[in-house]
Amino acid sequence: MEVPVPAGSARVLAKAEWENPCGSIKDRTAFALLCEVLADCDDPRGLHLVEYSGGNLAAPLSVLCGRLGVRLTLVLSEATPGDYVDELRSRGAAVDLVDREEGFLGVMERARELSGTGRLLYQHRSQANLWMHRISTGAEVVEQLGEAVPDRFVASVGTGGTLVGVLSALGERHPGVRGVVVTPSELPYGSDEPPNGRPKYAGSGGLGNGIRQPFVLGAVDRMDGYRTVSRPRAISLMRQCLDETGMRLGSSAAANWRTALDVAAELGEGATVVTVFPDAGSPSEWAEAGR
Ligand SMILES: Cc1ncc(COP(=O)(O)O)c(C=O)c1O
Repeated sequence: MEVPVPAGSARVLAKAEWENPCGSIKDRTAFALLCEVLADCDDPRGLHLVEYSGGNLAAPLSVLCGRLGVRLTLVLSEATPGDYVDELRSRGAAVDLVDREEGFLGVMERARELSGTGRLLYQHRSQANLWMHRISTGAEVVEQLGEAVPDRFVASVGTGGTLVGVLSALGERHPGVRGVVVTPSELPYGSDEPPNGRPKYAGSGGLGNGIRQPFVLGAVDRMDGYRTVSRPRAISLMRQCLDETGMRLGSSAAANWRTALDVAAELGEGATVVTVFPDAGSPSEWAEAGR
């Protein structure tokens, strides 16, 4: 979709992902992670899968594993809303909750510990995650851009699968395109600080302790900037975007929206900035936004 911009700005084009079956871009990742496992499995009923989630990946994994009859253990932060956890459990998933102060790194580490009992899907390292965004999300963006030539691709980073996968697809057709990494101010990409329990905008974040997401680290030469947005700002941007444009963006989409507008203002008329809107926001985000 064409995003409204002020006069003198570059164009901003966004790919909306909230119409996927479970409502977010992570439906693609869940499908990819499961395909990777099922490709070399004779009988899925004997499988026990383990994965961690910042929120959105858990829903499609629980739906697909429920339908396939595959045993699934999900590791999430204690900060996850209770009704979301209840929904996952009602689909047959076992849910393990980690102290919120341990941050996303603590959630990942707990899942790694549990990998002794089942097969860890490991979204931060799975080439299927990256590949899916290259051949589906990214290929669709390339096609939907038509004649437009992208200069930047702006995306919030959880695993970096979206950012780097889409950037790879764009780069095959448009070698000049560069990525812009967006993460929460409360724990930016690559931060040396330890993980913390401060609320962050959805699905995204640095890991802390100086750890960098492998997909992003592998593509640093294709990046053109590292930007941050705080959780309170992302929530107020959700409100602002709804009031100004009528679009209901989730908090990571709102962070992408604002960052894409900033980058577009810096590049000026004639350039094109592409971004993605990963979801339309959870009930708890909208309650906080007061809409
Ligand atoms: C709402 C939302 N935005 C952005 C992301 C980041 O996606 P990726 O893991 O592809 O970097 C996620 C991942 O969970 C998410 O749920």
